[in-house]
Amino acid sequence: MRGQLEKTEVLGKINTASKCVLSSLFPLMFQRHYSANACLLPICSLYGVAVTTVEGVGSTKSRVHPVQERLAKCHGSQCGFCTPGMVMSIYTLLRNYPEPTSEQMTAALAGNLCRCTGYRPILDACKTFCKESVCCQSKASGKCCLDHEEDLFDKEEKVSTRLFSPDEFQPLDPTQELIFPPELMRMAENQPKRTLFFHGERMTWISPVNLDELLDLKAAYPKAPLVVGNTNVGPEMKFGGMFHPVVISPARIPDLNVVKCTGDGLTLGAACSLSLVKDILRNAISKLPEEKTKIFRAVLKQLRTLGGEQIRNVASLGGNIISRKSTSDLNPILAASNCMLNLALKGRKRRIPLSDIFADGVGNNTIMPEEILVSVHIPHSRKGEYISAFRQAPRRENALPTTNAGMRVLFEEGTDKIKDLSIFYGGAASTTVCAKKTCWTLIGRYWNEQMLDEASRLVLKEIALPGSACGGKVVEYKNTLIVSFFYRFFLEVLQSLKTMDPCHNPGIPMEYESVLQDFQTKMPQSIQIYQASQSQSPQDPVGRPIMHQSGIKHATGEAIYIDDLPSVDGELFLAVVTSSRAHAKIMSVDASEALKGPGVFDIITANDVPATNEFHYSSDPEIIFARDKVICVGQIVCAVVADSDVHAKQAAAKVKIKYEVLEPVILTIEEAIKHNSFFEPKRKLEQGNVDRAFETVDGILEGEVHVGGQEHFYMETQSVLAIPRGEDKEMDVFVSTQHPAFIQEMVAASLGVPANRIMCHVKRVGGAFGGKILKSGLLASVAAVAANKTNRAVRLILSRGDDMLITGGRHPFIGKYKVGFMNDGRIRAVDAKYYINGGCTPDESVLVAEVSLLKMDNAYKIPNLRCWAYACKTNLPSNTAFRGFGFPQSALVTETWITDIADKTGLSPEKIREINMYKEDEQTPFKQKLDPQNLIRCWNECVEKSAYHSRKTAVKEFNKQNYWKKKGIAIVPMKFPFGLGTRYLSQAAALVHIYTDGSVLLTHGGIELGQGIHTKMIQVASRELNIPMSYIHFRETSTTTVPNACASVGSAGTDVNGMAVKDACQTLMKRLQPIINKNPKGNWNDWIKEAFEQSVSLSATGYFRGYNENMDWEKGEGQPFTYFLYGAACSEVEINCLTGDHKNLRTDIVMDIGCSINPAVDIGQIEGAFVQGIGLYTMEELKYSPEGVLYTRGPDQYKIPAVCDIPEQFRVSLLSSSQNPYAIYASKGIGEAGLFLGCSVFFALRDAVTSVRNERGLKKTFTLNSPLTAEQIRAACEDDFTKMLNAFQALYWNFPDFV
Ligand SMILES: Cc1cc2nc3c(=O)[nH]c(=O)nc-3n(C[C@H](O)[C@H](O)[C@H](O)COP(=O)(O)OP(=O)(O)OC[C@H]3O[C@@H](n4cnc5c(N)ncnc54)[C@H](O)[C@@H]3O)c2cc1C
Ligand code: FES
Repeated sequence: MRGQLEKTEVLGKINTASKCVLSSLFPLMFQRHYSANACLLPICSLYGVAVTTVEGVGSTKSRVHPVQERLAKCHGSQCGFCTPGMVMSIYTLLRNYPEPTSEQMTAALAGNLCRCTGYRPILDACKTFCKESVCCQSKASGKCCLDHEEDLFDKEEKVSTRLFSPDEFQPLDPTQELIFPPELMRMAENQPKRTLFFHGERMTWISPVNLDELLDLKAAYPKAPLVVGNTNVGPEMKFGGMFHPVVISPARIPDLNVVKCTGDGLTLGAACSLSLVKDILRNAISKLPEEKTKIFRAVLKQLRTLGGEQIRNVASLGGNIISRKSTSDLNPILAASNCMLNLALKGRKRRIPLSDIFADGVGNNTIMPEEILVSVHIPHSRKGEYISAFRQAPRRENALPTTNAGMRVLFEEGTDKIKDLSIFYGGAASTTVCAKKTCWTLIGRYWNEQMLDEASRLVLKEIALPGSACGGKVVEYKNTLIVSFFYRFFLEVLQSLKTMDPCHNPGIPMEYESVLQDFQTKMPQSIQIYQASQSQSPQDPVGRPIMHQSGIKHATGEAIYIDDLPSVDGELFLAVVTSSRAHAKIMSVDASEALKGPGVFDIITANDVPATNEFHYSSDPEIIFARDKVICVGQIVCAVVADSDVHAKQAAAKVKIKYEVLEPVILTIEEAIKHNSFFEPKRKLEQGNVDRAFETVDGILEGEVHVGGQEHFYMETQSVLAIPRGEDKEMDVFVSTQHPAFIQEMVAASLGVPANRIMCHVKRVGGAFGGKILKSGLLASVAAVAANKTNRAVRLILSRGDDMLITGGRHPFIGKYKVGFMNDGRIRAVDAKYYINGGCTPDESVLVAEVSLLKMDNAYKIPNLRCWAYACKTNLPSNTAFRGFGFPQSALVTETWITDIADKTGLSPEKIREINMYKEDEQTPFKQKLDPQNLIRCWNECVEKSAYHSRKTAVKEFNKQNYWKKKGIAIVPMKFPFGLGTRYLSQAAALVHIYTDGSVLLTHGGIELGQGIHTKMIQVASRELNIPMSYIHFRETSTTTVPNACASVGSAGTDVNGMAVKDACQTLMKRLQPIINKNPKGNWNDWIKEAFEQSVSLSATGYFRGYNENMDWEKGEGQPFTYFLYGAACSEVEINCLTGDHKNLRTDIVMDIGCSINPAVDIGQIEGAFVQGIGLYTMEELKYSPEGVLYTRGPDQYKIPAVCDIPEQFRVSLLSSSQNPYAIYASKGIGEAGLFLGCSVFFALRDAVTSVRNERGLKKTFTLNSPLTAEQIRAACEDDFTKMLNAFQALYWNFPDFV
C-alpha cells in the first residue's frame, strides 16, 4: 500500500471524487489499474489489491507527478478539495493508457465533481496528455484556432490567451511510474486456496475460493449478501440503516469471473465488473459482424452512462441484476434481449431467462435466498432483430435514470411483420417491468403508424403510473418518457428497415433523423482572453496568471483541511441529532439507549450551554440546540460525543424524541403569504409614477416566476475541531468558515467567556459560496459546548446528508410582476413583488431580500417602478447567503418579463434588451449614479465575438430542418453592483512581518475559499515590497493575528484586504526607504539586516476603513454600492423534444472586471460561477416531502453540473482597457457576478422551446420556472404524445375505480 489509506476518507454521502487507485491482478489475472470511491470500498475487499492514494502518486517532498503538476499549473484547483480525486482519475487512465483520447479523458472524469472551477481548467490539464490536440492555448495573438469568424480582436490591443505555459511541464514518462507490485504477481501465481475470514467488531467477512464453498456458505447464511462492488449493499448499510452480521465475498471464485465467447453469445461471470463488461463488449463488437452485435451495442450504450468510471470499476454485473432496482440500466435491456441467468444452489444448477425474475411485476420472483447467480449469457442478435436501449436521467452522466427502457423486435423474415416483441421499462415501478400484454397484442402487426398508435395506447395502459402515484409532475414526465421511448424505437427500427431494404421501406422523414442521435459528451474547446500587462517589470506579478499558492499541495493531497488535522489526545467525535418534525413541541428526549452504545461519552443538550443558546441578531433568534420546540426538520436537538465518528453516529440514531405537532406548518412561500408569516422589515423601492405610467402604455403583461433554492454543495462539509486548552478557559477552534471573527464571537457568547479566550483558526476552506458564516457559527458552538462540557477536544464533521439537511441554502424565490410597455419595446412601468423563502430563522434573509430589490433592474432603465421584497418565515431549515445574494433570482424575473415583452411585441429579446439598456450617465432606481459605458461595450463585444446574429440565423435554419431536436440561442447583459451596503462591513486589516533572513510572513483577515485570495495578496505584497513572491508566506487566517476581520463575502475579499496589505507593506517600505536610499545597490536581505541593526521595526499592520456605502430605506435612496461590474453572455443549446434533454453547445462571456490582478484566478471565478449558475437555472432541484423533510440529501439525488454539462465551446474574454478607481490596482471583485450569466443557458433553452411551440402552433405565452429541468422542457414541448397522455389520464385516472 502506498500512501495513507486513511487519507482517502472521502467526501460525504457517496463520494463525489475518487481518491484512490487500485492496482489489481486478481481476479483478472492481468495488470490493470482502477480508480475507485474510497468511501464505498470495504477494506476486506482489498485483499490481493495494491492501493495507491494521491500521496503515493507524488509529493512536494519527493517528486510531484506530471498529473499533479499540470492540474495545478493549468489552474485546475481552486478550493482544492476535489483535486486529489481528479488527480487519481487522470493518473489511473494514464497508467492504463499513456496516450489517451479526449473521449477516454472525459469518460474518466465523468464521475468526479468539482463545485469551484467549472471544469474547464481541469480539462485543459487533461488535454495536455491527450494524443490529439484539442486546444490552441499557445496562441498568444489572442485569436483562437477555433475561431472561424473574421478577426474578432482589436489589433491595437495586446491580448493574451495563455494562462499557463506548457513548456514548464515535466514530460510524462511511463517508465518512471511505480512498477506493478511484484507481490501481487507472486500472489496471483500462488493463490492461497483457503477461505479467508475477517472478523470485525460486529461483522464477519468471508471470502471463499470455489463455488462449492460459496454454495455451502450461502446455504448456511441465506440472508448474508454476496458483496462484490458494495455499491448497492454499502449505501444501504451506511444510509439505509441495514445491517449484515455476515457478508460473503465471491470475488475470488473463478466461475463468477468467467468470460466465455460461445457460438451464440457471451457468457460473463456475475462478479465481472461493469468496466470489464464494457471492455469485453467493445472488443466483441469490433470483431463480430454487425448483425450479431446489436444487443451488445445496446448494453454498451447503457454502460457508457451508468454511474461513473469509479462505480463501474467495482460494481458487478450480477450485483446490478440481482439488486433488481427499478433504476437498473441493465435489466430492461438484458431482459428484453432474452439474456439467460445461470443460477446455482447447493446441489442444483439451473438456467432461466432473465425476464422471468420480473414476471410477477415486483421483481420477487424465482430466485431463492440461498441461490446465487453464477453467470449471465448475452446472446448474439439475429437477422431481422432490432434492439435498443434508452435512458433519461437528471444529469446525462453519473446519475440514476428517471426512466429507462430496453426494446427488441423480431420480424418475420423479409417483412416488417412483428414476430416477437419485448419491451421492458425501468424507473416506472418498484422494479423493472415488462409490457407483456402490449407485446402479445402487437405480434402479427406491421411496423407502421397504426401499430405505433395502438402500441402507445397499450403501453400507457399497461405501464404508465397513475397520476397520484408519487408526485404529479414527475409521474407525468415518466409517463411521457414511456411513450416517447417507444416512439424513438419505432423511428429507429423504421430507419434500420430502410437501410436493409430501401425499396420497400421509405424510412423516416429527414427532419426526424437527428433525434436518433443521443447527445454525447465531447472534450470542450475553450479560450480565455485577457489584456496582457504592458510595460511592467518582469518581477512584478500583478496582472499575471499566477498559479494558486496551494495548487501543488491541493494536487498532492498535502493541503490540510479540518478533517486532516492530526487527532488530539483524547479527542471525541460529535454527531448531531436533528428534528424529524417541521413544527412541534418536544415532549421528551430519551438518550438512554444511545448512552449504552460502545464508545459513547456523553449527550449534549441545550442545558449544557453555559451562556447563550439563542442569539438575537434580529426579531427571531438563531438557536444552537432546540430547547422546547422545533421549528424545522433538521434542527439540532442534541448531540452525541463518542470515541469515534462511527460510534457517535450509531448512538445518535438511537436517541428517541417524542413530539407533539404544532400548527401551522408553513413550508412554502404561498403558505407564508396565506399566514402572513414574514421576517421584518419588508422593503419597498419606488421611482416615478407607476400608476400613471400604466395608463399610457401600449400593453401590460402580468406573470409569476418561481426560482427554486440551491444547495451550496461545497465539497468540504461543515467542519470544526474545538480544543479546550485547559487554562483560563482558552479554546482553539479550527473551523471551515468564511468569518472567523463571528465564530469567535458566537463561541465566546455560548460559553460565556470573553472573546480573547477563543482563538479561531482557518487555514483554508473547501468551498463555501456563502454557506459558511452563521451556520458555521452555530455548529462551532455545538462543538465548543461539547468540548467545554467534556474538557476534551471535539471534532464535528457533518456528513453530506446532515449538511444538506441542516444548513439551508439559496432562498427559493417567487417574483410576481406587472409590466407596462410600448409597442416599440420600451418598458415604461414595473410593479413587482418578490418573496423569498427565508426558512425558520432570520439569518441574512432580510438582507438578501433587500439586495434582490436593489439589483432587480439588472442592466435596464425602468422609468417607473414599484417593487416590494418580503422575506417569508417558514418551517424549512433557515436559508442563508449564497453567491449572488438574491440577484440571481430577481434578475431572472426581470429577464423573464423582458422575454415576455418580446413575445408580445414580436420583437426579438435582444432588441428589447438593447432598447431598454442603461445608455449614458444615469441613475439607478435608488438614485445612485452609474456610467454604463462598459455595459454597452461588453454587450457589443459579446454580440460580435459570439457572432450572435449569424448564429441566430443558423439556429433558425437548423430548427427548420429538424423536428424533434431544436436549437436555441440567447444573449443576456449584466450589471452587477459591488458593495456590502455599510462601511464597517468592508473594513479590513493585515499584518506583515519581515524576518531578519528577509522572508516575509503575511497575514490578513481574508479567508481562502478557493478564490485565490492568498495568492492575490502575496502578489500585492510582492509588488509593494518589490520582492519575489517566493519570499512571502501565508500561514493561516486567525483571530489572534487579525482581530475583528469582516467576513470573506460579496466578492469583496481582494478589494478590501488588498488595500490593507498594501497599506502594511507601504508602511514597511517607508521605514526601509532611508536604508535603501543609502545603499541603492544593495539587495533586500542587506536592507533588512541593516534595518534590524538600526532597530527599525520590521512588523506593520495595515488597515482599510471600508467603502462609504449606505442606503436609506425610508427615502428609498442611497449609495449602497461602490462600483459596478458589467458583463454579457451568449449561450447556444440544443434540446431533444422527446425527452427534454439538452446539450450546452457554446457560451461566450465578456466580462468587465477592471484590471485583473490575476487573470487565471479571475477567469476561474467567472467560469466556476457560470457553471454554478447553469446548475441553479437548469438542473439543481431541491425536493421536500409534504411534511418538510428534504429528500435531496446527497449527490445521488441532487445533481450539480458535471463535465458533461459544460458548454462544448466555452470562451471567456475580459474587457480590455477598463479601469476602476475604487479598488486595489484598478481591479474589480469578481467572485459572484458570473453566476447570473448562467441564465443565458436558461433563455437559450426558452428560445428552443419557443421555436418548438411556434412550429406546433401552441400558445405563444408560457411560463418556465427555474430550474428549467428536462421535465419542464418536455412538458413545454407539447405534442401528440403529451396530448395522448392527457386524454388517457382524463379517461382512466379520474375514475376512482380504475386500478
Ligand atoms: C454512485 C452510484 C451510481 C450508480 N449509478 C447507476 C446507474 O446509473 N445505473 C445503474 O443501473 N446502476 C447504477 N448504480 C448501481 C450499481 O450499478 C449497482 O449497485 C451495482 O451494479 C451492484 O453491483 P455490486 O457488485 O456493487 O453489488 P453489491 O452491493 O456488492 O451487491 C448487491 C446485491 O446483489 C447481490 N448479489 C451480488 N452478486 C450476486 C450473485 N452473484 N448472486 C446472487 N446475489 C448477488 C448481493 O447479495 C447484494 O444483495 C449506481 C450505484 C452508485 C453507488
Ligand atoms: S476546486 Fe474542485 S471543488 Fe473546489
